[in-house]
Amino acid sequence: MQPPLAAIDATHQSPVENGMNATHALLRQHRTIRKFTDQALEDECIEAAVQSAQHAASSSNVQAYCCLRIRDSRRRAKLAELCGEQTQVERAPAFFIICGDQRRHRLIAEQCGRNYAANLETFLVSSVDASLFAQNLVLALESLGLGTCYIGGLRNRLPEVDTLLDLPTDVFPFYGLCAGHPAEQPSQRPRLPLPAVLFDDCYPSDEDMLKQIAAYDQISAEYYKERGQPGFNWSGGTSAKFRKPTRVHLAEYYQHKGANLL
Ligand SMILES: Cc1cc2nc3c(=O)[nH]c(=O)nc-3n(C[C@H](O)[C@H](O)[C@H](O)COP(=O)(O)O)c2cc1C
Repeated sequence: MQPPLAAIDATHQSPVENGMNATHALLRQHRTIRKFTDQALEDECIEAAVQSAQHAASSSNVQAYCCLRIRDSRRRAKLAELCGEQTQVERAPAFFIICGDQRRHRLIAEQCGRNYAANLETFLVSSVDASLFAQNLVLALESLGLGTCYIGGLRNRLPEVDTLLDLPTDVFPFYGLCAGHPAEQPSQRPRLPLPAVLFDDCYPSDEDMLKQIAAYDQISAEYYKERGQPGFNWSGGTSAKFRKPTRVHLAEYYQHKGANLL
């Protein structure tokens, strides 16, 4: 029988101060790692992390995701290229592709002689479920002292990724995830101030929001200056990113793979 939650808390999570504990400390240590040592990750360690990650909450427990581990070195090299020449995809000791998965649901529907009604809701459920799983996986790995890097660049050339991996319909690759022992210690990227994220009862005025962002821009400008990018800040970078639509092929690709986006 599993111990009750309070017992887990008492044995593993010594409370620190101000509502902080070891789990908070782990969360606050996060930084993306893009350089890894050559040390391999043991299968046992990966499998344990994936099993822990599976305990993420899931909409009605439908578990609409899967995790593809790419071990083949030729596929890894090609994926690194398809993800925008991101060498960590090839070099990381482990690389996963996090996918939404409606295929199991369609299979069991067929088996039960039922219709499977895919729509935007089922697609969103798969993307939410997959991301809760993925972030749990990141935390499980980070708790072992490992580093990770999500790879949204996987969506740059999805039809080619699809052909390379021979993905079936109803499986939707969302992003990659590199993992391994860190070979760098980057400084932490500051986050938005709490009042720009946590609101009591109603959304703040645009004026208040812009005030918070201005404060954050000063902090982020310091961060970029230290990293050799003077004159750069969060507003500038983020507004530039959204100037033009990106990855415009996605709706067509996902629909072709069985998603209904209506
Ligand atoms: C879904 C997602 C996709 C990402 N894609 C990439 C990527 O393709 N390449 C990369 O180097 N970092 C990628 N990142 C990492 C972000 O750039 C990083 O999390 C962000 O700048 C904040 O920095 P931090 O994680 O070090 O705090 C991605 C992060 C997420 C959540």
